[in-house]
Amino acid sequence: MLSPYSQSRRLAAVQVPVIPIVARWIAESPGTISLGQGVVSYGPPPEAVAAAQRFGTTLSDHRYGPVEGLPPLVAALEAKLAAENGISVPPDSRVLVTAGGNQAFMNAVLAITDPDDEIILPAPYYFNHEMAIGMAGAKVVAVPTDRNYQLDVAAIGAAITPRTRAVATVSPNNPTGAVYPAEALTAVNRLCQSRGIFHLHDEAYEYFTYGSVRPFSPGSLDGASGYTISLYSLSKAYGMASWRVGYMVIPASLHEAVNKVQDTLLICPPAVSQQAALAALAVGRAHAASHVARLDATRRLIFDTLSAADVPCDVPPADGAFYYLLRAHSDLDSMTLVERLIRDHRVAAIPGSAFADAAPCSIRISYGALDAETVAEGVGRLVKGLRALA
Ligand SMILES: Cc1ncc(COP(=O)(O)O)c(C=O)c1O
Repeated sequence: MLSPYSQSRRLAAVQVPVIPIVARWIAESPGTISLGQGVVSYGPPPEAVAAAQRFGTTLSDHRYGPVEGLPPLVAALEAKLAAENGISVPPDSRVLVTAGGNQAFMNAVLAITDPDDEIILPAPYYFNHEMAIGMAGAKVVAVPTDRNYQLDVAAIGAAITPRTRAVATVSPNNPTGAVYPAEALTAVNRLCQSRGIFHLHDEAYEYFTYGSVRPFSPGSLDGASGYTISLYSLSKAYGMASWRVGYMVIPASLHEAVNKVQDTLLICPPAVSQQAALAALAVGRAHAASHVARLDATRRLIFDTLSAADVPCDVPPADGAFYYLLRAHSDLDSMTLVERLIRDHRVAAIPGSAFADAAPCSIRISYGALDAETVAEGVGRLVKGLRALA
C-alpha cells in the first residue's frame, strides 16, 4: 500500500538529480579527474569579497529589503543590460534580483503557467529547467536540435499548441556549448511574438564565447519587451556560485505575478550577496575576460584530441560556455558509460540522459573548473576509456 507520507505525484515525476550520483561514484574511486561539474576555476573579484566583509555594520543590513532587490544593484543591472545586452529596461520591463538563475527560471515558470500548460525546450536541455517546469505542474515539450545542437526553428513552430506558454532557449548552451546565432534567436523570438507566447532566454554563460562568436540577447529586439523574459547569473560570470545571485528582466505586465512568487520564495534577495554583487559589477566583465583566453586554449585542445579519427566519438563544435556534449560510439547507455569511465578509467563526465539527449550514449564534459594540465590528463583517460568501452 502507498504510504500516506509519500511525495506528491508531481515531484515523483521529476528526475532525480544526477550530479550527486556521479559524485558518489567519484568518491568511491579515489584519484578520479572530474570533467563533470559546471563551475569555473576562479572566485569573485577581491572587491566583491571586501564588500561582503564590510557588511553588517548598520542595523538596516539585517532587515528585509525590497522584494526586487536593493535599488543601487537594480540600477547597476539596468545600466549593464543597456550597455552590454542592448536591453533598455524601464518603462516597459522590470529587473528583479534573484537567488541565482535557477530561481529566476522558477519565478518565470510559476508566473506564466497553469497546470498542464506546455513550455517548449530545445533538446538536449538543462535538467533544472525540466525539473522546474515539472514542479510547477506544467509540461515540457522537447524539440530536438540538429546534429550540431543548433535550433530547428521550423520544428519549434510545429510544436506550438494552444497550451504552449513559452519557448525557453539557453545560449551559450548547457549542456552542448552551442551558441545560437542572432538570426536563429530572432526567428524564435518573432515566432513567439506571432503566436502570442513568451520567449524565455537564459544567458547565464553570456561572457563565455570564443573566437569571433558573440552571444545575442533577443530581449534587445524592437518590441520584444512585452513577451521576452531574459535570465542572468553571477555564478559563472563572476565565479560566485555559492553567493546565489542572478537576475531577470520581465515584461511590466508580469511584475505583479513575479513579485508574488519572489515574495513567497525569498521575501528579498540576501543583502550580503547583493552588496558583493554590486562590487563585482563595478569590476565588470573584465573579470571573466581575463580567464576566457585560457579556457579557449583548453577548449581547442579537447576538440583536437577528441575529434582525431581513432577516437570513437563525435564532437560537435562548441563555441561557448565550457562544455562539449560528445556522442560516444558505444552500445552502452550513457549512465553505464559514465560509471565505467569513473570506476575503470578514473575520469568523470555527466551522462547525456540527464539532459534528455536523444543520442543513446552521449556525455557532457566540462572544462571550466580545471587547469589545462589536469584537463589534458583527464581527456587522455577519457580517450583510453572510450576506446576500451566502444
Ligand atoms: C543554463 C543555466 N542556467 C542557470 C544555471 C544556474 O545558475 P545559478 O547558479 O545562477 O542558479 C546554470 C547552472 O549550471 C545553467 O547551466
